[in-house]
Amino acid sequence: MAQPKKLFIKTYGCQMNVYDSSRMEDVLKPLGFETTDGPEDANMVILNTCHIREKASEKVYSELGRLKNIKKKRNDDNEMVIAVAGCVAQAEGEEISRRAPYVDMVFGPQSYHNLPEMLAKAHRAGDGKGRGILMTDFPEEDKFDFLPDPVKPEGYTAFLSIQEGCDKFCTYCVVPYTRGAEYSRPVAHVLKEARQLVEQGALEITLLGQNVNAYHGDDGRGGEWTLGRLIRELAEIDGLERIRYTTSYPAEVDDDLISAHADVPQLMPYLHLPVQAGSNRVLAAMNRNHTREEYLEIIAKLKAARPDLALSSDFIVGFPGENDRDFEDTLDIIRQVGFIQAFSFVYSARPGTPAATMDLQVDKAVANERLQVLQKLLVDIQTKFNEDCIGKEFPILLERVGRKDGQLVGRSPYMQPVHVEAPVDLIGQIRDLKIVSARPNSLGAELKGTAAK
Ligand code: SAH
Ligand code: SF4
Ligand code: F3S
Repeated sequence: MAQPKKLFIKTYGCQMNVYDSSRMEDVLKPLGFETTDGPEDANMVILNTCHIREKASEKVYSELGRLKNIKKKRNDDNEMVIAVAGCVAQAEGEEISRRAPYVDMVFGPQSYHNLPEMLAKAHRAGDGKGRGILMTDFPEEDKFDFLPDPVKPEGYTAFLSIQEGCDKFCTYCVVPYTRGAEYSRPVAHVLKEARQLVEQGALEITLLGQNVNAYHGDDGRGGEWTLGRLIRELAEIDGLERIRYTTSYPAEVDDDLISAHADVPQLMPYLHLPVQAGSNRVLAAMNRNHTREEYLEIIAKLKAARPDLALSSDFIVGFPGENDRDFEDTLDIIRQVGFIQAFSFVYSARPGTPAATMDLQVDKAVANERLQVLQKLLVDIQTKFNEDCIGKEFPILLERVGRKDGQLVGRSPYMQPVHVEAPVDLIGQIRDLKIVSARPNSLGAELKGTAAK
């Protein structure tokens, strides 16, 4: 047992999964596991999966096929435990072991604190054809109470999960089924974890939740804190320079949160607020609980609070019943808000969701065509936004060395990667830099006193 065992985690899907993967590392470390870069030499492989669209979920099975072949080539004393975690595990459970019988463990997002117990069971079962360990119930206990203190990954930015699950039941979405009901971590736990992350060198923390602004954490005194209140308190932590939160649900943006954008300078002027579609008919069919007018009203209030705020979004095209007019409405809302970043997808029918059986499913070719048009518009807006940054000065968090000699890479408040010629000892600092060039996906800056080349 003294020999370090190697762990490889492959993460799919959203930032919640990225966070969960790093917490799985924290759980496995005391058992002697060190992370490795690939499955080839790993003694334990975890696929932390995503069920959101059909493609995401099918990827898992092709990756499992690859792992099976790697495992076959191993000799007996070089163990390889294969585990499937995350949202596909939660949604498909035993079905995974049926399709891939060599899988040893299947466990959902709320069960990974039980990894030591599952591993012990696996060892008792011995290495064989797959050990059939399944943990996909939503447990009574709170996994966070059983996790060790977090070890922040390298770098100056960290994720902190404060809220999980979703009660919104948008008609296309699997998340309420894979992540369960909404749950907020108690205030004291969040504050403690944030302080630990800052002590470990985090300058920026991104608060995570499937519905992060539905946060209503127990304050230990019989009350509940909103996200706005929590952000104000986090801003008091010495050394925490930047705060972000994602993903928010528009219908639940309240005045307290909006005013935090005005009052808390550490709160970055960049917000991911998915709208999905711009047509009221489609928004209603999606069960998003707001109209396009209400969405625009929220944006107006946010921008009044923080005039330099920019927005990003998610879009679904080809939702059942979406016609050309509806799609035009989506393009129109994109132009009006001027989203500087976005994830956009063709609607994918997910088994068990209400939209999957709606009439008027949109032809794939039409949906793909709409996606192209929408993405071109988004790229144009992003490019223009980046070009408009030239000549402005932004605080840039310098994170690491760049690919070119003498170059550092940092992040602007708007998450744009920024390249600058600067000495390495500036890594880990936030510097006001003048933007001198722009590309579709990055900016170039210069340190004061250095000439542009
Ligand atoms: N909680 C977040 C989104 C989580 S899922 C929110 O409410 O906005 C991330 C994104 O995946 C969604 O915003 C949506 O754009 C997309 N998505 C979810 N289900 C999908 C489906 N069935 N087909 C296509 N895209 C989907
Ligand atoms: Fe899915 Fe809607 Fe919940 Fe977001 S709010 S996770 S899209 S059900
Ligand atoms: Fe995917 Fe689950 Fe996140 S379905 S998007 S990994 S919550």
